[in-house]
Amino acid sequence: MSDGPVTDIARILDESVEDDSEVIVERSLRPHTLDEYIGQRELKSNLSILLAAARQRGDAADHVLLHGPPGLGKTTLATIIARELGANIRYASGPAIERAGDLAAILTSLDERDVLFIDEVHRLNRAVEEILYPAMEDFALDVMIGKGPSARSLRLSLKPFTIIAATTRAGRISSPLRDRFGATYRLDFYDVADLRSIAERSARLLGVDLSPDGATAIARRGRGTPRVVNRLLRRVRDYAQINGDGRVDADTADKALAALEIDEEGLDGTDRKLLAAIIQKFGSGPVGVQALAAVLAEEPETVEDVYEPFLLRLGFLDRTPQGRIATDGARAHLTKLGYDVPPPRRAESEQPAFWGGASPTDESATQSETAN
Ligand code: ADE
Repeated sequence: MSDGPVTDIARILDESVEDDSEVIVERSLRPHTLDEYIGQRELKSNLSILLAAARQRGDAADHVLLHGPPGLGKTTLATIIARELGANIRYASGPAIERAGDLAAILTSLDERDVLFIDEVHRLNRAVEEILYPAMEDFALDVMIGKGPSARSLRLSLKPFTIIAATTRAGRISSPLRDRFGATYRLDFYDVADLRSIAERSARLLGVDLSPDGATAIARRGRGTPRVVNRLLRRVRDYAQINGDGRVDADTADKALAALEIDEEGLDGTDRKLLAAIIQKFGSGPVGVQALAAVLAEEPETVEDVYEPFLLRLGFLDRTPQGRIATDGARAHLTKLGYDVPPPRRAESEQPAFWGGASPTDESATQSETAN
C-alpha cells in the first residue's frame, strides 16, 4: 500500500453518536451475552466452544464470518463475541474502508486480542482486501516503501487480533478471503416461538404491558427477523397508548398492524407490490431482478438482500435460472387479499420446447439472467 495522506480512522470507524431515537432504542434492546441471546441455537453452541477455547488459551479468537439476511443479529453477535472475550471492539464497514491505507491505519491501532468488526465485507475493494490477507493469516502488514525500480516491501508485525466480518452475500466473498476465516456461521430466520420470546423480552425492557397472545400476534408478522419484531412492538405500543390503555393484547396488535398495512404473513406494502408486479405485469414470471427493481424503484441489490429472502423462505417466490417466479402460494395470498390475479403465463409454456421462450409481447422474458 502506498497511498495518500494520513488516515483519520475515526472517519472510517463507526464511532458516531447516533441521534436517531429509533436506532438508540433498537440498540438498547440488544442482548449483551450469549445467554441472553434468543434463537440460533446451533450457531450459539458452536460459537460458545470457539470462545471458551480462545479464552482458555488466552489467545485472540479465530476470525469469524457471519452471514445471513439483514436484521438477524450479526452486529449484535459480534458485540457479544467481543464482550465474552473481554476484548475491545471497533466497528467498520466494507464501503467505508476506501483505501489500503485506511485499513492499515485501523489495523496498526488495534491492541492485542481486540476485535475488528467489518460489516458488508463483500463490498471491500480489491486493494483493501489484499492488505487483509497477510494481516489475517500472519498478523503482518506489507508496506511498499518508495516507488518505481527502487521500491521495496517491508513487513510490519501486528498484534494478534480477531476479525469478525458480516455479509448478506456469502457468495460474493472471494475464496482467498473466505478461506482466511477460522469459523463461518450462517444466521437463519427465527421461528415464531423465538420471536415471541424476543418480543416479550423487549416489552419487559421497554416497560410495555404485552399479553402472551399480543406477543404471538407480533411474532407471527415479524418476518423471522428480531429487528422487525422490535419495530412492530414499538408501533403497536404507540397505537395502544393512543387508542387504548397502553396494554397490548392480540386485538390491539391486530388492529395496529392492520393500520400499518402489515398482513397476516408479515408482508408490507413493498412485498405485496413486488409479488403483484410479478403476477400482474410479468405473467407470474419468470422475470429478471433488474425489471422487478425498476418497478419498485429500488436497487436490484436491495430487492435481492432485503425483500427476496423472506419471500423465498415463505415459499412465495422461486428463483430459477430464467428469473423470479411468483408461486401458487403467493398467488393464493394475493387472491385472498382481493388483488387481481391473472392466470400465469408459464402454464402455457410449461412444455420444455417453449420454456423460457418469450411471447412476442413480453419483453421481460427475453432477459437472460442468472439468479443466484
Ligand atoms: N433482540 C434482538 N435480537 C435478539 C435476540 N436474538 N435475542 C434476544 N433479544 C434480541
